Amino acid sequence: MPTIKINDVALSVNPGTLVLDACRTVGIDIPHYCYHPALTPVATCRMCLVEIKGQPKLATSCTTTVPPAPKDNPEAVVMEVFTNTPAVADARAGVMEFLLINHPLDCPICDQAGECKLQDYSYHYGSGDSRMGEVKRRYRYEDLGAKIVIDKNRCIHCTRCVRFTREISGGGELTVASRGSRLEVTTYTGKSMDQNPYAGNVVDLCPVGALTSRDFRFRKRVWYLKSVPSISRHSALGSPIWIDHEGNKVYRLRPRPLEGKETTHFISDEERYAYTHYNREEQAPAAQLNGAEASMDEIREALQSAGPVAVIGQGTFGCDAAQRLGELATSTELRYGSGDRTIAVVLPKYQTSADGIFNRRGFMERGFRFGVLEELLGRVTRREVKAVVLLHDAGFTSAKEAELLGQILKAAAFSLAMEVQGSELGRAATAWLPITSCAEESDFIVNHDGELRRYQKALRPPKGVRTVPAWVKDLSAVPATV
Ligand code: SF4
Ligand code: FES
Repeated sequence: MPTIKINDVALSVNPGTLVLDACRTVGIDIPHYCYHPALTPVATCRMCLVEIKGQPKLATSCTTTVPPAPKDNPEAVVMEVFTNTPAVADARAGVMEFLLINHPLDCPICDQAGECKLQDYSYHYGSGDSRMGEVKRRYRYEDLGAKIVIDKNRCIHCTRCVRFTREISGGGELTVASRGSRLEVTTYTGKSMDQNPYAGNVVDLCPVGALTSRDFRFRKRVWYLKSVPSISRHSALGSPIWIDHEGNKVYRLRPRPLEGKETTHFISDEERYAYTHYNREEQAPAAQLNGAEASMDEIREALQSAGPVAVIGQGTFGCDAAQRLGELATSTELRYGSGDRTIAVVLPKYQTSADGIFNRRGFMERGFRFGVLEELLGRVTRREVKAVVLLHDAGFTSAKEAELLGQILKAAAFSLAMEVQGSELGRAATAWLPITSCAEESDFIVNHDGELRRYQKALRPPKGVRTVPAWVKDLSAVPATV
């Protein structure tokens, strides 16, 4: 590996590594706007300039790579980079002044305020004064369809959004029009972002507040939000996301890129707007037995006296839930898996499976067998199994599978459904228990690629709503003897 020096600190890196990335490895963050690890570098913003010994001009660290070491001297220092010289500071201040020439001072009403790179870099590298005496360029904000709003006054022309629609989502809805001070990011005539199932990502990519989400616009100042690491339940891979919440309410979901995992940079709009599922509009129903409110003792007694128990776990819950649920089955044979939702593959590079049952693998590792529900129906009908416990979310079950599950519940002498929201199927069970949503508990999944992904509790569950392990603990408790 060749050796380079960054501000006189030597380190060995692979040849071809970007200088910007090499700087990060020694804890030096280079300011940048147009660079994004998932997009082709274009070096348009000039914010990442560094000094390289022996080069007459400053170089863009987002496009400069570390050369290989000479064959006869593999230990040789091949490059000396300086990020803290007066020339670099001067260049950064100059770039900031240019970028701010036409930028409005509307931070108090801008959604990006608080997480804006223009604010941050202006504070760290800008001058604090403006020499701009002329009238600023003005545009009215425009809707790019129902999902995205653009405020071109704020745009710094980094072209991240344009490159995203061309290189990642492929629709190419955005383009750069005109030149010089009139340069603007716009859509081709008649196009909007509505047809793009990944449109919401341009809002995350925009380093300033030029592209905003209609859904989130003016709803919450970001510094009030708490971000909790979670996973998306509407992606085949359980994409890592941030749940941004405040006051026990989720306001938005954002991708949570993992180091070295390019597939985690973007999420689909279906995943992004699924945050509404976590906000409970109504009080959760209480535990039920035979259509009436019941105590845990009554439900436990009904289950324990029913006879051999089989469990059906839908592979969209966490592994802890699967483990505990499995313990309710009378034998390991009697652990059945369910769920048959598929998710259309739009971007094969980012979605390697169409199987929407994202924790199928985690359930299988805990002994759950999928695709054999008919076998269970036979066992229940023959009375080899008397009781069935179902862990279920109606959104992940097709009408065909729901019908089969309904037959199983009907044929069983006793059935218990555990659900986040009550469904028609759940109401058909003898007993029903309200469980926490993914945002109200901490657990983990093992996705189709075998990656373990954890998620943490973001919201406080309503009174009477408990996690699957907590319910199972009570259901399997030995009744107190008098
Ligand atoms: S709208 Fe945002 S992402 Fe697009 S070019 Fe302008 S600043 Fe960059
Ligand atoms: S980040 Fe390097 S030029 Fe924009």
